[in-house]
Amino acid sequence: MRPHESIAGRYEDDEGKRKFVRDLFNRGAPHYDRIGRVGFFGTGHLHRRRALERAGLRPGMDALDVACGTGAVTRAMLEVLGGKGRVCGVDPSEGMLGEARKSLSAEFHLGQAEALPFPDASFDFLAMGYALRHVADLKRAFAEYHRVLRPGGRLLILEISRPQTRFGLVLSRLYFRDLLPGISWLITGSADARLMMSYYWETIDACVPPAAILEAVQGTGFQNVQRHIELGIFSAYTGLANLP
Ligand SMILES: C[S@@+](CC[C@H](N)C(=O)[O-])C[C@H]1O[C@@H](n2cnc3c(N)ncnc32)[C@H](O)[C@@H]1O
Repeated sequence: MRPHESIAGRYEDDEGKRKFVRDLFNRGAPHYDRIGRVGFFGTGHLHRRRALERAGLRPGMDALDVACGTGAVTRAMLEVLGGKGRVCGVDPSEGMLGEARKSLSAEFHLGQAEALPFPDASFDFLAMGYALRHVADLKRAFAEYHRVLRPGGRLLILEISRPQTRFGLVLSRLYFRDLLPGISWLITGSADARLMMSYYWETIDACVPPAAILEAVQGTGFQNVQRHIELGIFSAYTGLANLP
């Protein structure tokens, strides 16, 4: 199940998407954290940390950050664990991993959500932050999450959702589609950064609805699957890997 159909003018098929996305984040990597700080008014770190704690991340757990990028979720995991437990990050972009390695001491691996480079039942907690739209196949990714989690392990997927109300949609389009790409260009001077943030809204707008995501998570063996929503746009999907 694709998270969205091909984005016109960007690529035509799954292989084209994989290459486009890898190139997009390799080139945008040096700018990602600055855009995150300015574009989201400095709220991103606390938001991620609170979501991890609400989803049940605790010291002593082994935690995996899928699509870790420059390490925004990894950093929050390290803080919550406070040195007790294991934190790994995995991402297909060398550029994003390079930025993460500069400031964080966690284990970082090159890899994709759909084929995680870890044995079965390796982790107690798995999070994916704002990357759901980039995978080729949601069900394949969620099946991998289930495979690498231990029985009873916890899943957290953070994602931006297209607002359901007309007012919310107008506001989101104004900010994410019409302003943020330009703001990103102004603060970084980079056309790559502008493209990264244009593509951000294009995929949010085209993404399958939350109900389809919930159904796909449930269908791959997770229990107690829920969605928590903030400001009509920030979704947190949670679930528990089935006990045997
Ligand atoms: C918007 S960034 C999110 C980074 C970080 N998780 C955060 O919360 O800010 C999206 C990340 O997804 C990664 N990505 C793209 N395709 C992926 C895939 N198939 N599997 C895992 N990660 C992928 C990109 O390389 C990029 O680092």
